[in-house]
Amino acid sequence: MQAFEISSPAQNRPSALSLPDAASTALRTGVVDRPRHGIQIRRIQAHDLQWLPALADLLIDSVHQSHSSDFLAPLSRYAALEYWHGVYAKLGAGHALWMACEGGAHGPLHGAVQLKLAAHAHHRGEVQRLMVHSREQGRGIGSQLMAALESTAASWGRHLLVLDAPTDSASASVFRHLGWRPSSEAPGFSSLINDARRDAAMLYKRLRRQS
Ligand SMILES: CC(C)(COP(=O)(O)OP(=O)(O)OC[C@H]1O[C@@H](n2cnc3c(N)ncnc32)[C@H](O)[C@@H]1OP(=O)(O)O)[C@@H](O)C(=O)NCCC(=O)NCCS
Repeated sequence: MQAFEISSPAQNRPSALSLPDAASTALRTGVVDRPRHGIQIRRIQAHDLQWLPALADLLIDSVHQSHSSDFLAPLSRYAALEYWHGVYAKLGAGHALWMACEGGAHGPLHGAVQLKLAAHAHHRGEVQRLMVHSREQGRGIGSQLMAALESTAASWGRHLLVLDAPTDSASASVFRHLGWRPSSEAPGFSSLINDARRDAAMLYKRLRRQS
């Protein structure tokens, strides 16, 4: 059964800092394969346009489920595709995108995360839009996406990562569980419906330098 394919994310999560083989494979191929779990983490390149429709579906699901992003529900398919076209246009030296798909390179896409590399601070990067489809949450996919991102970031010399998450949200708890530490809080950071705002926690994580 699907629910048991990733049996113990804590045990089996690819540790960014303790799996140099996985890291070097990821660097070489852009793929971190977890065949035991049926989930593959893959870095998407600017020419991988075939993933655009699934990424649009993922964003729409995320906006409609969590209401925690800068998008307001309902999010149209046009707006979702427009967002991802913008992301693809940035992919390259300063921006990276990973996705999680089931059962290999052509399986359904369940999650994604982005890393923006600070242009003038070569030790730093910002994690953006970690999203796991609402049907697939709790299977260790978010952990694996973050592990792949952190592994690659460390190998690129980006030892300080930052991100924001809604204060007192499940996602902030997940990040703290994954070793992220709060640095500050930004009042009224995110827009909600009816012009309401939501505070956000700023979190950071220091990655161990790879030799
Ligand atoms: C936050 C989110 C990305 C997590 O993805 P996920 O695939 O469900 O997470 P995982 O199953 O990998 O769980 C991650 C870890 O957090 C733990 N965890 C889960 N819920 C938790 C909670 N409420 N508090 C603390 N830890 C929690 C899990 O046990 C797991 O730890 P482990 O790997 O040591 O077992 C996902 O829920 C999501 O997409 N939410 C909506 C969008 C969102 O809020 N994104 C973040 C915006 S920055």
